[in-house]
Amino acid sequence: MRAGSRRFHLLTRTCTLLIGAAILVGCTNAPSDTLHDPLTPTVVEKGRYLTHTLAACGFCHGATAVPGAPLTGGRPYYDIYGEVTVPNLVPETGRSVDWTTFDLMRVIRGSRRPDDEVISPTAHRGYEWMSDDDAHAIVSYLRVLPRSGNPTERRSISFLDRNTVGFFAPPAREVRGYIPAITPQYQLEYGAYLVDHVARCVNCHNTPGTFFSSEEYLGGGGIVKTDAGEKAAPGITSDMVTGVGGWSDAQIVAYLRTGVAPDGRQVDQRFCPTAFYARAEDQDLEAIAAHLKRVRR
Ligand code: HEC
Ligand code: HEC
Repeated sequence: MRAGSRRFHLLTRTCTLLIGAAILVGCTNAPSDTLHDPLTPTVVEKGRYLTHTLAACGFCHGATAVPGAPLTGGRPYYDIYGEVTVPNLVPETGRSVDWTTFDLMRVIRGSRRPDDEVISPTAHRGYEWMSDDDAHAIVSYLRVLPRSGNPTERRSISFLDRNTVGFFAPPAREVRGYIPAITPQYQLEYGAYLVDHVARCVNCHNTPGTFFSSEEYLGGGGIVKTDAGEKAAPGITSDMVTGVGGWSDAQIVAYLRTGVAPDGRQVDQRFCPTAFYARAEDQDLEAIAAHLKRVRR
């Protein structure tokens, strides 16, 4: 009985302390942090960089799958539910014109529209752990782009499809709360972040799970379907036979810049978005290479 009430006291005291701390933090939070001011040139520039390089938004949302093409959508994207027209990100009219920054960050990372409708569970898979800074920068960039054209028609996944076709599919994930950025100085963690949550190599290069086996990280063998057709994505772990274990870091970076493998093969850029990765900074591509070389099969 006494022990119980003491614990209760401790609990209320801890709560008071926590609430006090929260108020303090709330009050001392300076509002003039330029990194978080959405439309400062630095933030917009960072967004432009991510959009047209590693995050490769235009690979799907571009009028053509070429970096720098207007993000007016209109091409097909294929998922377990079939085909969906990729939306125009800069429409002059339509539903998404007055979405807030929060709405846009949520549909990019959480795959949910403001009306709570879930979009394709695979299109944005991986972005759910994109840092607040990166997601915010991308949205800031979208906001300064010139508007062009009309909204694309929207697909609704029927209740029946969601519960039959989608039964085994990984659901679109939404991570709530603040997601801090990883500094490039921590090269391996940063590389893993880029591979999993920005460039999302995992989306194509993971071995798909089946009823009997779970998904395998970067093991290859999945079929990638784009408007250019279908191709299997190879493994890119550090395995000497099935992966890129025999490639040097410099060769991996060179591949990401050119689409040319060390043996001189030109890999199809309509399937692997190397035309986008080509313009990324050395530091980022080196981090990706360092991470791949550490992944065991
Ligand atoms: C792999 C293809 C792909 C990539 C890459 C991609 N998206 Fe999408 N995105 C889609 C598809 C497909 C939809 C619509 C899905 C649906 O309706 O089911 C969509 C929907 C959206 C929407 C909702 C628009 C609306 O009007 O409903 C926004 C905003 C968006 N994407 C932004 C982005 C941004 C920003 C990036 C880059 C960081 C990005 N997307 C990268 C395929 C992609
Ligand atoms: C949209 C799907 C997709 C994404 C995203 C993607 N790839 Fe690829 N990648 C492919 C496909 C498909 C091929 C095979 C193309 C071919 O055979 O012409 C490929 C080929 C490769 C190869 C050549 C391997 C070989 O031995 O020929 C490497 C290396 C590679 N990708 C690395 C990456 C890395 C690293 C990332 C992320 C930074 C990435 N890919 C993102 C689909 C993708």
